[in-house]
Amino acid sequence: MATRHFLTLLDLSPEELTYLVRRAITIKNGLKTHGPTYTPFANRTLAMIFEKSSTRTRVSFETAMAQFGGHALFLSPRDTQLGRGEPIGDTARVLSEMVDAVMIRTFDHSGLEAFAAASSVPVINALSDDYHPCQLLADVMTWSELRGNVRDKTAVWIGDGNNMCHSWINAARQFGFKLRICCPEGYDPDPAIVAAAGDQVSILRDPQAAVAGADLVTTDVWASMGQEEEQAKREADFAGFQVTEAMLDLAADDVLFLHCLPAHRGEEISTTLLDDPRAVVWQEAGNRLHAQKALLEFLLLGRVEN
Ligand code: CP
Ligand code: NVA
Repeated sequence: MATRHFLTLLDLSPEELTYLVRRAITIKNGLKTHGPTYTPFANRTLAMIFEKSSTRTRVSFETAMAQFGGHALFLSPRDTQLGRGEPIGDTARVLSEMVDAVMIRTFDHSGLEAFAAASSVPVINALSDDYHPCQLLADVMTWSELRGNVRDKTAVWIGDGNNMCHSWINAARQFGFKLRICCPEGYDPDPAIVAAAGDQVSILRDPQAAVAGADLVTTDVWASMGQEEEQAKREADFAGFQVTEAMLDLAADDVLFLHCLPAHRGEEISTTLLDDPRAVVWQEAGNRLHAQKALLEFLLLGRVEN
């Protein structure tokens, strides 16, 4: 069977993604009931290449491998030959000889694609400048756990048309929900990614109008990793796009608020939003562990029927 990679949500079929969300919930419940006794990965190794900072992604992948009976290796360009110019393709071939899967957090999405093309073991995108698909597995899992089937529901993205926004667009396509995107002009997501989603996705400019009646509201930082020098300009350009409790009051009565974190209180969210019961960001963060266990299991072992 050809090696499967997970570089974007489009690498799996809608049916496979729905399976993963269901399986992640089963794995989570099993962990709660029996502790970390399910260990399908004895002697398996995941290489984790981080070219950008991380708290959640590193801890969730490393813990997933440990609880599954395997091992994770943290590799940073600072202390590997990647940082000294060894070609990506050579690194991919070498790691393929030794480890069972590779997880990469990087800048340029095309570098990730080049790595995957040369790798004979599964490659997982742990965030690139263009996408963050692992986060969306946890986000859709959280939404499904709390509100059931997400098909035909409405989510709203407020803020920058960034990597997270692109993955929300792909999630709308794959899981069949509607996505309203509300960005200041000049910060829209990639038009090709929007166009491919057809009428699942719309672009609006007024945050108050965008959230009206919505089932879910989400946002992200205004300046992503690598855009630090644009922080001041972005703070000015995104004025009026802060998500507040009053904004959530305009959405459906049972609206949920998600944020991939880290959050900047007083910028993209009000200082108190994460204390509002509609915000379920700690559950969302915790679900990274369970969703990525389901993903790793699927890529390494195939489908495990519940
Ligand atoms: N949400 C997320 O990916 O967090 P980290 O940057 O801490 O991994
Ligand atoms: N858009 C953010 C997400 C962090 C998890 C970034 O790329 O920095």
